[in-house]
Amino acid sequence: MILMTAYFKKQMDKESNRRIAADISAYGKEVIDSELFRKAFAQKHHTNTTVGEHTLNVTAAALRMCYALEKTGLRLDKRAVTIGALCHDLGIIGRYEKFENNRICCRLHPIDSVRISRKLVPEIDHKTEEIIRCHMWPLNGWMPTSAEGYLITVADKYSSIRELLYRPALPLLRHETAGMILGALVCGAVG
Ligand SMILES: [Fe+2]
Ligand SMILES: [Fe+2]
Repeated sequence: MILMTAYFKKQMDKESNRRIAADISAYGKEVIDSELFRKAFAQKHHTNTTVGEHTLNVTAAALRMCYALEKTGLRLDKRAVTIGALCHDLGIIGRYEKFENNRICCRLHPIDSVRISRKLVPEIDHKTEEIIRCHMWPLNGWMPTSAEGYLITVADKYSSIRELLYRPALPLLRHETAGMILGALVCGAVG
């Protein structure tokens, strides 16, 4: 545990990771402080990871894309991106009790994620709800309605592929960012 904590603190020293942690803290506090978000780390997802780790991987990937696009002059709604990414798969928690099979889960979990996000973030706006509802595109037909929505679909696919290729022998290297943010949460470094 001491070694893990040192590793996470080292990651926090990296400027880009600090920026991600700061944005999650600024925009996603209601989500990451919730009991349900903690539960997300207890359910496997994509074979090798948990729903919580996947969620943080997608959030980090999406925010990194935002930072890169900002350099081109494009301005994106980082609050919508952060909350959308943090909530996009929360509807998958308890999937085996809620959904009859994987096909139904694939189709319906975004709807349940929207329902949950309204509870966790009462002031959530329509754009963020649409980001969550359409995140599976093109797999379930609901097309994103904003640039931020498309960005989340890309970050989700990118992270999912990386997670499926993950090798258990190198967990920290393969999940550097999720590990960093998870470690920050555990260590209380994210406000
Ligand atoms: Fe999903
Ligand atoms: Fe996802």
